[in-house]
Amino acid sequence: KRVIFSGIQPTGIPHLGNYLGALSSWSSLQQPGTTTFYSIVDLHAITMPQDPDILRQSKFDMAVSLLACGVDPKQSALFEQSRVAAHSELAWIFNCLTPVGWLGRMTQWKSKMDQKRGHVASHAEILADESLTTGLKMGLFDYPVLQAADILLYKATHVPVGQDQLQHLELARDTAKLFNKTFKKNVFPKPIAITPPESQRVMSLRQPTVKMSKSDPSEQSRINLSDTPEVIQSKIGRATTDSLVGVSYDKRERPGVSNLLTIYSAVRDISIEEAVKEFEGVESTKQFKEQVADAVIDRIVPIRNELSRLQGDPGYVRQVLDEGAEKAAEVAHKHMEEVYKVIGLK
Ligand code: TYM
Repeated sequence: KRVIFSGIQPTGIPHLGNYLGALSSWSSLQQPGTTTFYSIVDLHAITMPQDPDILRQSKFDMAVSLLACGVDPKQSALFEQSRVAAHSELAWIFNCLTPVGWLGRMTQWKSKMDQKRGHVASHAEILADESLTTGLKMGLFDYPVLQAADILLYKATHVPVGQDQLQHLELARDTAKLFNKTFKKNVFPKPIAITPPESQRVMSLRQPTVKMSKSDPSEQSRINLSDTPEVIQSKIGRATTDSLVGVSYDKRERPGVSNLLTIYSAVRDISIEEAVKEFEGVESTKQFKEQVADAVIDRIVPIRNELSRLQGDPGYVRQVLDEGAEKAAEVAHKHMEEVYKVIGLK
């Protein structure tokens, strides 16, 4: 039996990278015979400083967005992570099993270090220089353990995520293996990632060598699901490309054009090759960009309309989240009982 779990940080309205990398598959995975759990991971969000009022609003906006993207509360449990206390409980138990070295290797943690240091720091350097970790919190270091707990708590077999989450998923698999081996019981299945192809990593419109991200200070770097058609035309119109003639796919030499081709093929559900073919003979970058923008608009407008409709119905959204938490907690509770027994706490 397939059990799906996935999570997203409450960053408000998701961007096109979130949508194409993960959310579009969340809705299509909802099928009879499959149990689906989708969580707004607010406990992960607080690993970085958050303003309480903004956090509350961002959680609501994310819930609305997930519903607008096709998460169906009749088929899935859609819930806030902090409402199901077992996430924290299982994370603590995993904390007591996970070697510290596993976490020091995680790229997300290391990249935060590198930002501080100004260059790529080795694990030894990080341990030797305390000033590197000052200001960063234990929770951030421990982030992947909580993520492993999210997934294993439901005994998820499949996890739809973007490429950037594969290392975290590997840690979840290792955690399942370690737990089962330590207690000589096959409690947790090893979860498998469902990932769109590498070519579907959506990059920043301004700097096409880094991923499209909510933490980029430039609004021009990303397309949000709430953007109007005019804003989408303008953002794509100003996207960084190059001065070569024609449209071709070459991530190394033409990262900007390749990113627009990636986006185009993803929103149209066609392959990169087919996308390149459609632009054969198109020489002006302007025309290319306009067509890409039109395709994005076609895909996003229905989501945007549903988004604004649901924003006017907070009572309904609240009810969906409450029921989702109840459904999730029921399964979580059953699995925690088993865990407590296996490790001797009960
Ligand atoms: P988060 O909130 O950063 O992103 C949510 C999903 O969007 C994908 N994604 C992208 N895909 C393609 N191109 C991009 N530019 C892009 N940016 C983001 C991410 O891969 C992700 O699938 N740690 C997770 C949240 C999490 C989680 C979990 C996920 C917590 N617990 C358990 C799965 C299972 C995160 O920060 O995703």
